[in-house]
Amino acid sequence: MKRKITIAIDGPAASGKSTTAKRLAQKLAYIYVDTGAMYRAATLAVLRSNVDAQDETAVVSCLQDMNISIELLDGEQRTYLNGEDVSILLRSPQINRAISAISSYPQVREMMVRQQQELAKMGGVIMDGRDIGTVVLPQADLKIFMKADLQERAKRRLAEMETAGENINFKAVMEDIQRRDELDASRSAGPLKKAADAREIDTSDLTINQQVDRIAQWAAELLYNE
Ligand code: DC
Repeated sequence: MKRKITIAIDGPAASGKSTTAKRLAQKLAYIYVDTGAMYRAATLAVLRSNVDAQDETAVVSCLQDMNISIELLDGEQRTYLNGEDVSILLRSPQINRAISAISSYPQVREMMVRQQQELAKMGGVIMDGRDIGTVVLPQADLKIFMKADLQERAKRRLAEMETAGENINFKAVMEDIQRRDELDASRSAGPLKKAADAREIDTSDLTINQQVDRIAQWAAELLYNE
């Protein structure tokens, strides 16, 4: 049997990473790790503790006492905060507002990166985020950088939020995505960045199936050539 490889997927918000990664994991019988959910759970912990998200020292000390973990349940990632399943609470506008500050703190990133590297050790893992190919798994077998037009990304995110029952308008969604991308790309620790050896996919005009098939093809070629 062929060995199981490690796949890193990075890219800006709503570029199609998580939907693609989830489907690809099903197709290859791999495990999908959504690292954004871990930063979202950390942000929820900070908000619940009434700690000021701008106060780096307080945020770090708050998170040192927290336990964030993930588990797979029927192929879906569930995210836990101190043992409580918080998965459905992670996409709120309050979290979106505070997450950029919290995920910019180097000590917060160190905690997350360490945990993510442990998770990847089992192999057969597809991990998505902003710094996976550059910082978390620089040795990943296959690195993908996904991008798409801002308008297209906002359209997709709006559709997702409407399905989830959120009442929000297109302009607000677009501004939120743009603001988070700018902050993610400009921070000094683990910025959103394409790894030098990543393959780029522009998903603006691709269907999910086309995105999944393209990456699966690359993975198959990689294993075939070994
Ligand atoms: O992928 P997402 O939209 O759920 O990510 C939410 C936020 O978490 C995003 O604005 C940046 C941050 N994040 C990060 O800094 N590093 C990662 N590896 C994943 C997410």
